[in-house]
Amino acid sequence: MQLRDQLVYILLALGAFFTGATDGACDPQKAVILGGNYTWLEEGTILKYECPDGKYPHPTTIRMCYGSRWSRMRDAQQRPVGRAVCRDIRCTRPLEFENGLYEPRQPYYNVSQELRFECYQGYMMRGSQNRTCLPHGKWSGKTTVCYDGAGHCRNPGVPIGARKEGSRYRIEDRVRYHCDNGLSLVGSQYRVCQESGAWTGSEPECRSPFTYDTPEEVSSQFISSLTEVAESSDPNKVVSDTEQRRIRITPGGSMNIYIVLDASQSVGKKNFNEAKDVINKLIEKVSSYDVTPKYGIITFATNPKVIVSTTDERSSNAAWVIDELEKLKHEDHSLQPGTNMKAGLTSVYEMMINQQQDEERQGLDPFPIITTTRHVIILLTDGNFNMGGEPAPVIGRIREFLHIGRERVGDREDYLDVYVFGVGEMVNVENVNELASHKSNERHVFKLEGLEAMQKAFDEMIDESEALSMCGLAKEYQSADYEKKNPWLVSISILRPGRGTETCKGTLVSEKVILTAAHCFTIDDVADQIKVKIGQKNFPVAALKSHPEYTVGKLRNLGIPEFYDYDVALLTLKDKITFSAEARPICLPCTAGTTRALRRPHPQTTCREHEQELMSFGNIPALFLTPCREKHENTVGLRRRTVRIKNSDKKQSCEADAKKAKQYKNVTEVSQVVTERFLCTGGIEPEVDPNTCKGDSGGPLIIAKRMRYIQVGVISWGVVDVCGKNLRTCDSDNILERAPSHARDFHINLFKVLPWLRQELREEGLDFIN
Ligand SMILES: *[C@@H]1O[C@H](CO)[C@@H](O)[C@H](O)[C@H]1NC(C)=O
Ligand SMILES: *[C@@H]1O[C@H](CO)[C@@H](O)[C@H](O)[C@H]1NC(C)=O
Ligand SMILES: *[C@@H]1O[C@H](CO)[C@@H](O)[C@H](O)[C@H]1NC(C)=O
Ligand SMILES: *[C@@H]1O[C@H](CO)[C@@H](O)[C@H](O)[C@H]1NC(C)=O
Repeated sequence: MQLRDQLVYILLALGAFFTGATDGACDPQKAVILGGNYTWLEEGTILKYECPDGKYPHPTTIRMCYGSRWSRMRDAQQRPVGRAVCRDIRCTRPLEFENGLYEPRQPYYNVSQELRFECYQGYMMRGSQNRTCLPHGKWSGKTTVCYDGAGHCRNPGVPIGARKEGSRYRIEDRVRYHCDNGLSLVGSQYRVCQESGAWTGSEPECRSPFTYDTPEEVSSQFISSLTEVAESSDPNKVVSDTEQRRIRITPGGSMNIYIVLDASQSVGKKNFNEAKDVINKLIEKVSSYDVTPKYGIITFATNPKVIVSTTDERSSNAAWVIDELEKLKHEDHSLQPGTNMKAGLTSVYEMMINQQQDEERQGLDPFPIITTTRHVIILLTDGNFNMGGEPAPVIGRIREFLHIGRERVGDREDYLDVYVFGVGEMVNVENVNELASHKSNERHVFKLEGLEAMQKAFDEMIDESEALSMCGLAKEYQSADYEKKNPWLVSISILRPGRGTETCKGTLVSEKVILTAAHCFTIDDVADQIKVKIGQKNFPVAALKSHPEYTVGKLRNLGIPEFYDYDVALLTLKDKITFSAEARPICLPCTAGTTRALRRPHPQTTCREHEQELMSFGNIPALFLTPCREKHENTVGLRRRTVRIKNSDKKQSCEADAKKAKQYKNVTEVSQVVTERFLCTGGIEPEVDPNTCKGDSGGPLIIAKRMRYIQVGVISWGVVDVCGKNLRTCDSDNILERAPSHARDFHINLFKVLPWLRQELREEGLDFIN
């Protein structure tokens, strides 16, 4: 090891010698990292180190070429840095521990090592007795404090890696924290003992530069802060009623959410679109609380750009806000490399002033914006501000404008929350810490490894138990996980002794009920013969109910052997299932859930408006789900296939092809078998639609809107069986393209069987609207 190090050193030295002559450029040879790799963020000038799991690049992650020397990212003094090495991730040691002992005592701790604390006699312990070094370099549990009950406020403790100045805890007494060399302080550096017995601000944390928050940490801490329902898990904690700022988002309450998106460093479309997706999910999350905040959306690079202003009347219409966001293109900012965070925040400030002027014009006094409106600023950045000056004073001006902390410390603090999400290694947490709010037992600063981690965090947030019953919501980021991507799809098998097993698909519409096709069952089938598979588990069925108007043999006297009008059925499970990421309901038309999924106001939105939005004139893109064979493994996967519901001039020709089905030779008028209950897909115009296969029957025809999934049809029958016995391969549609142009599929339109759905699902809590 020693020897190889020296060798590298010599090579580096030689590199220096040879490249000394070439002016301006840095020598890539000098940038190599021991035990890892690097990639160029900007060819020849900025690179990023990568280390294997459990290691981090030391002394820096990003290296930049200044003149002809490799230096740290944005180091004003451009000091050269030493050779880069991948080091083991480890946890820092306690610098101070008052009134007790801990062991083992080491200069640092390896991942999975444990620290054990003990208090001296006469002292009580708060926080965790044992703490474990976690894989991302943070300690598990909470700061351990040995305290004796003296003082007005309790001893606030010393977080690991920090030193505390001040040991008197009377009203107005102040403590001050410092972090060990190389660690960054996140949270409050100063805390003041308040009359209520609580300390101002939030507990500081001393973070290593390589430490990121996990998506799980972000989702739990951000959402508990945002919804204010979190209580300290510490049973000893004395919390006064005023300190527990409970319901910040009161239903019907007035709230402004400003989303400030850094578009400068987001190199490339993909990142920018991912950032948009994150905002979309955030709006989703907030919509789930039945509040209709006004949104302000601002992007910034060199200059800020207001996408949505809270002064726009439509800013409380989440659907419109998301559409505006969708229109936003990365190109709008891509020619501007600077990160002018100050300008971004100034736009928020200006929006507040404009809103006040609006209120003044309307004759409102006092101004709601300053008195009753809660303001949440969410700043998403993947860089450091490098132009326009310090952004922190703008937060000061906003606080001043909103009358926060004017009369006394902590006054009206509830009316403003500033959250900062730093994504990637360019983020300096100390800088963003200055902008964020600091509130007791809440987190406002987060640092994530990448946008994917951020998406995951927001998916987790939407996923918490109360939101599980939200319909038509899937975990999109796990592209390989079919169940999580399509958590409402169920498989139904009907066992007919002596005649084998028939399979169909269905959808979960509530905790107990499955929607499927009536033709999956014969008149003799009983519930006991039916099994429903949700995720990987089988569930017994208690009842089967087909639509009363469904009569397959109704037209037999006309020589038409099969007739599928009203081809829908409901299965009731013996027991309620528990919703999870793998088992979740889909949205049905004309329910409150769909109103929310469409981000329309509830209860004002009508069933007709659902139909207008979803089934507008045209060739409506919709999707169905079909199993397929994965190419390289011999496993069965599931794919979403896009088709177009013909609700245009193509509708007639689509329906006319029904007569080409072999069972419909005797049909004289197509309307005999294609009633107004059917939706038609398939064919080659305006594009080639894939076709459903036999086993897809009973499954959903879905319209996706803003990442929510609404079922509009139940797959019933097709003109041609294009699949036969062979499962198609997952990544090719070519088998489908060979289907004849008259290969059409017919689905029961759920809008046309609503009276029955309403009646049968009355008890299922779906909240049908009129
Ligand atoms: C560095 O990259 C090469 C090729 O891209 C890869 O084979 C190697 O495993 C990487 N090494 C580390 C330590 O990541
Ligand atoms: C920590 O890890 C290093 C390197 O793997 C090892 O040499 C050392 O013995 C470990 N220390 C403890 C206390 O486990
Ligand atoms: C802490 O660790 C000690 C020794 O391993 C153990 O006896 C004790 O139960 C642990 N305490 C807690 C709260 O887990
Ligand atoms: C058409 O009707 C005739 C007479 O009722 C019947 O024999 C024949 O089987 C029917 N054809 C089909 C395809 O059902």
